[in-house]
Amino acid sequence: MNQPAMEGIRLNVPGYVTHARLIAWVAEIAALTEPAEVYWCNGSEQEYQRLAERLVAAGTLLRLNPELRPGSFLARSDPDDVARVEDRTFICSRSPDDAGPTNNWMAPAEMRALLQTGPNALFKGAMRGRTLYVVPFSMGPLGSHIAHIGVELTDSPYVALSMRVMTRMGRGALDVLGSHGEFVPCVHSVGAPLAPLAQDVSWPCNKTKYIVHYPETREIWSYGSGYGGNALLGKKCFALRIASTMGREQGWLAEHMLILGVTNPQGKKYHVAAAFPSACGKTNFSMLVPPAGYEGWKVTTIGDDIAWIKPHADGRLYAINPEAGYFGVAPGTNYQTNPNCMDSLGRDVVFTNVALTDDGDVWWEGMTAEPPAHLIDWQGRDWTPEIGKATGTRAAHPNARFTVAATNNPVLDAQWDDPHGVAIDAFVFGGRRSTTVPLVAEARNWAEGIYMAATMGSETTAAQAGATGVVRRDPFAMLPFTGYHMSDYFRHWLDLGARLQEAGATLPRVFCVNWFRKGADGKFVWPGYGENMRVLEWILGRLEGRAGAHANAFGLSPAYEDLRWSGLTFTREQFQSVIGIDRAAWQQELALHDELFTTLAHHLPPELRETRERIAQRLAAA
Ligand code: OXD
Ligand code: MN
Repeated sequence: MNQPAMEGIRLNVPGYVTHARLIAWVAEIAALTEPAEVYWCNGSEQEYQRLAERLVAAGTLLRLNPELRPGSFLARSDPDDVARVEDRTFICSRSPDDAGPTNNWMAPAEMRALLQTGPNALFKGAMRGRTLYVVPFSMGPLGSHIAHIGVELTDSPYVALSMRVMTRMGRGALDVLGSHGEFVPCVHSVGAPLAPLAQDVSWPCNKTKYIVHYPETREIWSYGSGYGGNALLGKKCFALRIASTMGREQGWLAEHMLILGVTNPQGKKYHVAAAFPSACGKTNFSMLVPPAGYEGWKVTTIGDDIAWIKPHADGRLYAINPEAGYFGVAPGTNYQTNPNCMDSLGRDVVFTNVALTDDGDVWWEGMTAEPPAHLIDWQGRDWTPEIGKATGTRAAHPNARFTVAATNNPVLDAQWDDPHGVAIDAFVFGGRRSTTVPLVAEARNWAEGIYMAATMGSETTAAQAGATGVVRRDPFAMLPFTGYHMSDYFRHWLDLGARLQEAGATLPRVFCVNWFRKGADGKFVWPGYGENMRVLEWILGRLEGRAGAHANAFGLSPAYEDLRWSGLTFTREQFQSVIGIDRAAWQQELALHDELFTTLAHHLPPELRETRERIAQRLAAA
């Protein structure tokens, strides 16, 4: 069914599309952005291949050596478009108080004038000379009661292609939507209209960037960037910022969490959801290989970045991974740190900003101990280890990524696509802290768990633009992703727990972990990666009432004897240096928690200050 031309633009609506409001909205955005054509993505394999060919022809993708990396491509972004831009990310709620002090806010009318309605509105004519791709997608298994539908209109074929990997994209999502279903409208433009006959660049984008969310109308508008979470709008924008506001209204949780299954040698399976800030090893933890000494144990991946969690009639919290692929950080990934991830990357991968080897394969820092003698770096320049040393440049960008389907993962959990989700047994919160925070601590109760999560701190990484290595508070690893006032978000977690407990439910237990404590030599003390299984086993032992723990000022922690050590040489002294609570460091830490609470004072739940007082009293008594 070809619709009549709309302001000169044919909408090309396929006959199977029955949603009048969706069609009207596509017409409205096409009239605003004036693309050369409109194309509705159906999500088929043939369509994926056509998009890939188009991107190869445009120079955006380079086909990798099909013998070494079948079906795989390399993209090199504009050097100014390499990470999420948190300072250009806005929550445009009606009241600034709803966005809270941790989000950038602008009044919706003011933002709409800038983007859509004003005389120089950025989206006016923004897609000239380009194709508008209509990308319908389901966040979560098709038809799951935990899932939700979105539609992204984008002028980037790289985004359309990536959305097919990262979400359940195409006709299946439209079938779930039907003629009247709810969807989150997402508008994306790289902000680089093409004049007739003008030569395109391989990575079009704009120096001006806006990543905008209107929580009340559940809309997302993104301008100027083609990269990752700025542009694949199902991910951070929808599945975290907009979904967190939906969760608050509807009584569920949208979290920056991996979900893993862990099965013990007796065949009993548990599900753990764990929050870590960006680039702190969520993908590694979700694909963990149990070390020697753990024969018969198995860890399987449900998700590596985001969890949607809804209470069920049985009183338990059920989680799905809303995504269908991994957009993971490549540097540092290797056969020691994450063999399952390496095995996932053998074929059908889109790499972005990694280095190219002379035989048409990829390389990144940390992939092998020694770099190859010659590479083409992420900006397309010759690179050798000598050049790297002399100029201080890296071959791959530190935030270089792989985009790959979850089905490539050899340890994908059998229930990863289960519409019912999996029941969560434990929540784990982990920051990246070189001092102070112990390897693992269990919260005494829900409120103490919320406190641990709310006061999480982390040293910044390359996933966000700006300086790396600076400690910032990252509550629940959600600082850049909560779509409303952070204190109200804490309130939501507290209330949800209270409601479930009143109804007689047993809540998941809450734990805090820190793999990143360093010794006096500046090196990590805890070996991490597969060895994190030892901590995971202790967590499960706590759930089963088997594992020992002693009370600390900050939660309950294992003694040396409470962890299994077979297969690893790790001394009591080393253990003490990663588990110990240093009184002076914790007094300073509490002062830093106070700074956070002062920033968030306006709506801060009193339970948090009460918990803080109890920690202070325990410290004083220690
Ligand atoms: C991500 C991030 O891309 O958290 O997952 O930055
Ligand atoms: Mn993330």
